[in-house]
Amino acid sequence: MINYKKITEDTYWIGGSDRRLSRFENIFPIENGVSYNSYAIIDEKTAIFDTADISISDQYLENLKGVLGEKKPDYLVINHMEPDHCSQIATVVAMYPEITLVGNAKTFTFLSQFFPELNEQRKITVAEGDTLELGKHTLSFVMAPMVHWPEAMFTFDTATGALFSADAFGTFGAIDAGIFADEYDFEKKFLDDARRYYANIVGKYGMQVQAVLKKAAGLDIRMICPLHGPVWRENIAWFIDKYQKWSTYTPEDEDILVIYGSLYGHTESAAQKAAAMIREKSGKSVSVYDVSQTHVSVLTSEVWRCGKIVLFCPTYNNGIYTPMENFLSDCIALTVQNRTFALAQNGTWAPASGKLMTEKLQCLKNVKIVEPMLTIKSALHETDEQELEAFVNAVVEA
Ligand SMILES: Cc1cc2nc3c(=O)[nH]c(=O)nc-3n(C[C@H](O)[C@H](O)[C@H](O)COP(=O)(O)O)c2cc1C
Ligand SMILES: [Fe+2]
Ligand SMILES: [Fe+2]
Repeated sequence: MINYKKITEDTYWIGGSDRRLSRFENIFPIENGVSYNSYAIIDEKTAIFDTADISISDQYLENLKGVLGEKKPDYLVINHMEPDHCSQIATVVAMYPEITLVGNAKTFTFLSQFFPELNEQRKITVAEGDTLELGKHTLSFVMAPMVHWPEAMFTFDTATGALFSADAFGTFGAIDAGIFADEYDFEKKFLDDARRYYANIVGKYGMQVQAVLKKAAGLDIRMICPLHGPVWRENIAWFIDKYQKWSTYTPEDEDILVIYGSLYGHTESAAQKAAAMIREKSGKSVSVYDVSQTHVSVLTSEVWRCGKIVLFCPTYNNGIYTPMENFLSDCIALTVQNRTFALAQNGTWAPASGKLMTEKLQCLKNVKIVEPMLTIKSALHETDEQELEAFVNAVVEA
């Protein structure tokens, strides 16, 4: 059934939500689903902004036809060529052969890789600052390379102040009845998913996000229309501030993170005890995770939130316990910065995971490693209380 929504003057959301997909990019669990947003401006000329993922193509095409009625769209603006947004381009062109595709030079390189059959389609190639008149609305193009692919760009509607921001300002999570962020308790419903989306999708590209935020600061933005998640029309500064923090690798709060790995429970028991002591001595909120149980995208998202991270890790065949190694590799891949780590290693004959974790963490920018490290020989006992206390004190004071 047609289900598009007017979001402002002549501007419509024509996307849809998928609650069946279990993993986004076949990696990230999305228990709350995900939305794929597309937009349309119906002016003297009609423009569509991106398409949608193939999983919601029926709903998307119904919404598109519904919003257009008898009209034929003039432009399809392609802000992002990733298949979760571009999958329906060939279908749209088949429905409306007169349509002109609008993108930058890279957009069209990628377009011909995904859809060589569209090589002869009418196109307008835009660059930074170019504009396109629709009538009352004038579109202006802002390049956003690597947020999240090299061809990504934003389109700004100078008439309404709507910024079509591609993957930026997006979040995991299906859209329920409301289309606007202010129709939800965003912090409760979306913030954790938004942070996890940021950390794992664009976390690596903090510098590029910073560059585009600087450009965006020069625009009179009254609405942000991302490709995933709700549209922002109120409290925009609050969400931009989150992006400022996330993209500069600045911890969001003072909470302390304890992540442990454990085969048989001994390292786990030590981590639990230490977490309780850290909580008591610091007065701060402490979150504890089992690295084998919690998806690594949740752990990296928590690293984005917290400034201080305590790792408890067994030695495993002379190496780092593999789930912990995987987590650390993800931290390196996502270029985690500006964090304090404290390390506890376990080993029954030759504990080595502490040194090996230190080597990995030294790949990260501006990371402090708390001294002393805690070494557990198989299990922690009451006789080790002094050593544990010294470790906890060092964590709290760091
Ligand atoms: C398959 C396997 C490999 C291990 N390899 C090492 C090792 O190379 N060096 C070492 O000192 N301990 C090694 N250990 C012992 C663990 O590091 C750890 O001391 C033990 O699993 C107790 O902690 P847990 O109950 O938290 O698993 C190994 C344990 C297992 C099960
Ligand atoms: Fe993307
Ligand atoms: Fe996307």
